[in-house]
Amino acid sequence: MEGAATEYTYMTYISMAFSNHLLFLFVLIVLIISGIKGDDTDLISKECGKNFTNNDNLQANINSTIFDLVTKTSAYGFANSSHGSGSDTVYGIAECRGDVSVQTCSTCIANAAQQIQTTCWNAAESRIWYQYCFLYYNTSNFIGQADINEVGVWYSTENTTNPKVFQNTLNELSVVLWLAASDAENRKFGWGQIENHNLKNSNDETIIIYGMAQCTWDLDNSTCSHCLLNAFNIRESKCGEAAAGCYVITKSCAVRYEVNPFLFFNATAVNPPETTSSIIFGNI
Ligand SMILES: *[C@@H]1O[C@H](CO)[C@@H](O)[C@H](O)[C@H]1NC(C)=O
Ligand SMILES: *[C@@H]1O[C@H](CO)[C@@H](O)[C@H](O)[C@H]1NC(C)=O
Ligand SMILES: *[C@@H]1O[C@H](CO)[C@@H](O)[C@H](O)[C@H]1NC(C)=O
Ligand SMILES: *[C@@H]1O[C@H](CO)[C@@H](O)[C@H](O)[C@H]1NC(C)=O
Ligand SMILES: *[C@@H]1O[C@H](CO)[C@@H](O)[C@H](O)[C@H]1NC(C)=O
Ligand SMILES: *[C@@H]1O[C@H](CO)[C@@H](O)[C@H](O)[C@H]1NC(C)=O
Ligand SMILES: *[C@@H]1O[C@H](CO)[C@@H](O)[C@H](O)[C@H]1NC(C)=O
Repeated sequence: MEGAATEYTYMTYISMAFSNHLLFLFVLIVLIISGIKGDDTDLISKECGKNFTNNDNLQANINSTIFDLVTKTSAYGFANSSHGSGSDTVYGIAECRGDVSVQTCSTCIANAAQQIQTTCWNAAESRIWYQYCFLYYNTSNFIGQADINEVGVWYSTENTTNPKVFQNTLNELSVVLWLAASDAENRKFGWGQIENHNLKNSNDETIIIYGMAQCTWDLDNSTCSHCLLNAFNIRESKCGEAAAGCYVITKSCAVRYEVNPFLFFNATAVNPPETTSSIIFGNI
């Protein structure tokens, strides 16, 4: 990409299980590699592309698109927008993670907009990801098209004791991918949790795997499925078989699993029969 400026924030996390209770302590280590300003700790990654100078028309279209996205996303959790004509047309999309509250969503999208306007101020195309939302605009009309390129992969340094059973259980949980792809609620979000009696932590306690999958809401079922399958495969190759948690973000979708709850809601516990696993899932 000509004249592109790309900045990435890399994040690693370590989780440790304590023996007596089902108490997990997360230590979040945010390694800020490049010059991200402020203490925007929920910022995951950002790309500012295609610098421009002296184009007030384009700048005004970018401003209007971002403003529109913030307003609509705060109200509905997702939005698209377009302003201008000809080569100065700007297309934009924004979305919050499917489980977050309206309050969290609107705070997140306002931060994302502010961050992108201050640090990508002369970029004709930008993408930004936060923990709970993302925002993207471009002068090319990308609506409905998936970009499966990787943004980042983060994994837990805690390893599971039985990777083979863990991977099999995770494959069962992959129903969440199809759920996200077929989500008719304009969120393209799916969640699930699975419990298998053969899956224990190092204290011999049965663990639950929590998972989620989400596409940008403009993708149709098959485009989203394609993106999520790719992300799910990246998970296996980049996080390894043993990792107790993995978070893959590609440009148009994300897949994440953890052995600790990480979504903003609690599903009723599942109690699998001794020989099989139990799974619950939904779209929210
Ligand atoms: C684009 O603009 C940013 C911010 O002003 C600057 O840091 C970067 O070097 C520029 N990139 C190119 C390729 O000109
Ligand atoms: C676009 O928004 C920025 C930041 O709010 C502002 O400084 C700039 O004057 C605006 N430009 C136009 C052309 O609207
Ligand atoms: C937003 O998306 C809807 C549904 O895909 C489409 O009908 C509408 O034209 C889009 N609006 C803008 C401003 O791009
Ligand atoms: C904007 O769209 C062009 C053409 O599809 C693409 O090459 C570029 O990567 C996009 N920019 C960003 C920031 O994603
Ligand atoms: C976890 O497994 C990976 C790959 O199998 C290995 O490189 C790493 O050292 C292990 N970590 C711990 C804490 O055992
Ligand atoms: C996508 O999924 C929705 C919800 O399950 C379904 O109603 C719709 O028919 C599906 N569309 C396609 C093209 O498969
Ligand atoms: C989920 O359960 C935990 C532990 O019982 C509780 O602290 C938390 O507030 C609950 N979260 C929601 C969204 O209900």
